[in-house]
Amino acid sequence: MEKIRFGQTDLEVSVLVLGTWVTGGWAWGDADDGQSLRAILRALELGINFIDTAPVYGFGRSERIVGQALKEWGARDAVVIATKCGLEWDEKENIRRNASPARIRQEIDQSLERLGVERIDLYQIHWPDSKIHLETSMETMLKLQVAGKIRYIGVSNCNREQIMACRSVGQVHSLQPPYNLFERESEKDLLPFCQANGIATMAYGGLCRGLLTGKFSGEETFPRGDLRRADPKFKPDRFRQYVKAVDQLKRVAEKYHKSVAQFALRWVLQQPGITTVLAGARTAAQVEENVGVTGWQIQPEDLEAVEKILTTRIKTPIGPEFMSPRRE
Ligand SMILES: NC(=O)c1ccc[n+]([C@@H]2O[C@H](COP(=O)([O-])OP(=O)(O)OC[C@H]3O[C@@H](n4cnc5c(N)ncnc54)[C@H](OP(=O)(O)O)[C@@H]3O)[C@@H](O)[C@H]2O)c1
Repeated sequence: MEKIRFGQTDLEVSVLVLGTWVTGGWAWGDADDGQSLRAILRALELGINFIDTAPVYGFGRSERIVGQALKEWGARDAVVIATKCGLEWDEKENIRRNASPARIRQEIDQSLERLGVERIDLYQIHWPDSKIHLETSMETMLKLQVAGKIRYIGVSNCNREQIMACRSVGQVHSLQPPYNLFERESEKDLLPFCQANGIATMAYGGLCRGLLTGKFSGEETFPRGDLRRADPKFKPDRFRQYVKAVDQLKRVAEKYHKSVAQFALRWVLQQPGITTVLAGARTAAQVEENVGVTGWQIQPEDLEAVEKILTTRIKTPIGPEFMSPRRE
């Protein structure tokens, strides 16, 4: 597994980060806890040492399972744990942004307990909260750092101005932006900004909610509770358009004896300003496939071929729909 220095931190992390949203059994259909646990342990065995979770992923469930995996794995210090704060929910699972100092202070203690650790390696503001100045949220994060509850501070789903607001208070070590072959908004100014300022990035959505795994025919429908049900990318015409593009991408991937999922994740890693890429995995088999992202390179002529496929096949520009924490 390729490792990389994570921005200006002293963390050495795997370039592939295990995402554990699916582990929470919420918004992607239910999850099997035993299977989730095996997937995490398999990731650790295969050299992934960076795991991303959040309280909202299953309302504590994902963090608890990550905590259980850490306990079984034993070597806590060999694993870099990233979690988040700034969202709250009610008993009906309605989610609201809340990055107030009181909420952050409450969340950190709950996360430490669920994860069974004394310190979080990377603590990220999940979504900026328009009701609270980011500087105020950031001041609370800095206090947690001084108190030794977190090592490094990151943000997620923030634009340049929002990152600058945070940086006016203290060091922002990382950004988690959406980024994949089909959704490239972040490359306009966000990734160059991070690169210029030594901010590490963790690209999420690398498989575009499963679209880039090549497993869809374009005819699928999704059950209630699956966020793809409301995602415009999975509405008939657009969905088929992506599937056709994936069919062509598959042919380029085959030149490298790689699956389209491995190819899509590799493509993300080769883009300027990208430090790491996240991939969620429901099963150990998915982890095994996704680790095939490392140890090889897409050649320049094939990067060009990819651009041609995207410009000829994808007629719908990327929209802002990715940028919402809501489920349906
Ligand atoms: N900061 C944020 O706001 C934010 C937002 C989204 C995600 N994230 C993070 O990023 C991580 C990745 O999430 P994502 O949204 O980017 O999801 P993703 O990685 O694009 O897709 C993950 C889903 O695709 C399927 N999958 C994964 N590997 C596969 C394979 N090799 N073959 C077939 N199917 C495969 C699995 O679901 P099925 O088996 O059900 O198809 C899996 O749950 C999350 O877990 C989370 O940690 C963060």
